[in-house]
Amino acid sequence: MQAILVANPKGGCGKTTLATNLAGYFANQGNKVTLCDLDRQQSSLRWMAFRDPEMAPVTGYFAGNQVMFNPPQDVDQVVLDAPAGLQGYKLSDYLRRVDKVIVPVVPSIFDMAATEDFLNSLRQETRGRRQMLGIVAMRVDPRTRAAVMLEEFLRHFDIPIVSYLRNTQNYVNVAAAGLSVFDPPRAKFKRDHEQWDSLLQWLSD
Ligand SMILES: Nc1ncnc2c1ncn2[C@@H]1O[C@H](COP(=O)(O)OP(=O)(O)OP(=O)(O)O)[C@@H](O)[C@H]1O
Ligand SMILES: [Mg+2]
Repeated sequence: MQAILVANPKGGCGKTTLATNLAGYFANQGNKVTLCDLDRQQSSLRWMAFRDPEMAPVTGYFAGNQVMFNPPQDVDQVVLDAPAGLQGYKLSDYLRRVDKVIVPVVPSIFDMAATEDFLNSLRQETRGRRQMLGIVAMRVDPRTRAAVMLEEFLRHFDIPIVSYLRNTQNYVNVAAAGLSVFDPPRAKFKRDHEQWDSLLQWLSD
């Protein structure tokens, strides 16, 4: 079983988007996947409730009230969708129990400033296991000044950018239907799949 935490204290940076699309990817690969929604807003569970039963199945539950995280054992993948502001002993507990941490970061000065302390905490708490940390640059084209600004900011933390995901309504539209870009019809998401490749490769390393 592989457990993946998607976290960043900044609200609206794309945690639920990444978590639900990852769950959709694993489900379409034929894996048993559970979404653990840690957020009281329960956006991931709402997404699941919209999901067409004809699609590859994703199970999930609200895990935000557990004092210690108790991962389900009978699945291939667990994807944890963190709330904004996850920190302290709860963050430490999750970091001990998961295999990978994905931090979505939007390249804006507000988002980067709000993420700085969190990245420092992650580095301290994963000493000796830093390869478990990866950044996903959200809503950005890698050839832009915004991307360069993000890369410069991240250089201080020595955490790799594992993927760049563009700003596209595709993510907004699939979310509204309980779908992911990996559910059919897949052809129209070809460009997005290409952008996910490096993230999926990193997760399987
Ligand atoms: N790459 C993208 N392109 C366009 N829109 C996006 C992209 N990623 C996320 N969004 C949109 O941005 C909004 C915020 O994303 P999301 O809900 O995933 O963030 P979050 O980090 O989970 O927020 P919260 O902290 O409130 O839980 C959503 O409306 C989502 O559809
Ligand atoms: Mg969310």
